[in-house]
Amino acid sequence: MSIRTARRSWVRHLVTACAAMGLLIPAGASALAAPSPAPAAASPSALAAPDIPVANVKAHLSQLQSLATANGGNRAHGRPGYRASIDYIKAKLDAAGYTTTLQSFTSGGTTGWNLIADWPGGNPNTVLMAGAHLDSVTSGPGINDNGSGSAAVLETALAVSRAGSAPEQHLRFGWWGAEERGLVGSRNYVSRLPAAERAKFTGYLNFDMIGSPNPGYFVYDDDPKIEKVFKDWYLSKGISTEIETEGDGRSDHANFKNAGIPVGGLFTGASRTKTTAQAQKWGGTAGQAFDRCYHSSCDTTSNISDTALDRNSDALAHAIWTLGVGSATAPRTKTTS
Ligand code: TRP
Ligand code: CA
Ligand code: ZN
Repeated sequence: MSIRTARRSWVRHLVTACAAMGLLIPAGASALAAPSPAPAAASPSALAAPDIPVANVKAHLSQLQSLATANGGNRAHGRPGYRASIDYIKAKLDAAGYTTTLQSFTSGGTTGWNLIADWPGGNPNTVLMAGAHLDSVTSGPGINDNGSGSAAVLETALAVSRAGSAPEQHLRFGWWGAEERGLVGSRNYVSRLPAAERAKFTGYLNFDMIGSPNPGYFVYDDDPKIEKVFKDWYLSKGISTEIETEGDGRSDHANFKNAGIPVGGLFTGASRTKTTAQAQKWGGTAGQAFDRCYHSSCDTTSNISDTALDRNSDALAHAIWTLGVGSATAPRTKTTS
């Protein structure tokens, strides 16, 4: 038996013994740190969020780009590239064990869809949701706006499945249609939620443009508890953030907020210009837009900062784990060797 195997089996015994005694294992307990490198499924700590592999997020962006290219160059509401995008995301979630629902609505005389994915289990009376709009404008493939948020939410949902998580809260993920036509899909979703269902939401986290090529790191300042979870993650990485102000209420979280649901989210900037002070703390180019290709044909896979996409994907997972997976989480019985 190798040292690594011996240590793992010792860890497994400790976990089993603690569970039997009804003890909670503190987050980041060093005795439980996985030998490095360890396969994700073998991680004995279910408490810390996994590192989201940015390569996986980028692979989703490549697929969305291909679907736009094959369908007239966009993924807009009412166009075939939108339906192809939603089918791609749904297939990944179905294969990972999610319960998925397509919710249809009409806008401009055309049918559109939201995709809702529920992770089975968790307290049904506490729902934590993360979402992103999946539609692009008609003028381009919409890779930063909003393939970036869509892909990061997808990869976080897949990470929940890979981790075999048994979250404390019920986790739900959503991809909205027709955001670019005025937040239409998410408005339909929220308006059809009965009051008793709305009351179960502990939070809605929104991700719209999180890989801007000349990025800023903006955190929504709506709900202080959610805001703090994101800010703490950035603080732990030594990266400063600013409050998101570029058109507050210009994305799907506005519909949840108007319904009394606590909201938060991340944003890396659209057509506003990065200032000299911002370029000093974040790098990039002062005097240039955060996203020069915002709503245009050049919003392709070249229009992404991998660093921003990686950081925000990891911050997203951190928020889901911190707010939703919770301290009582135990790994599902899984043998590792
Ligand atoms: N929602 C806008 C779009 O999709 C982008 C945007 C502008 C935005 N300002 C924002 C997103 C502030 C989040 C927060 O085109
Ligand atoms: Ca990562
Ligand atoms: Zn957008």
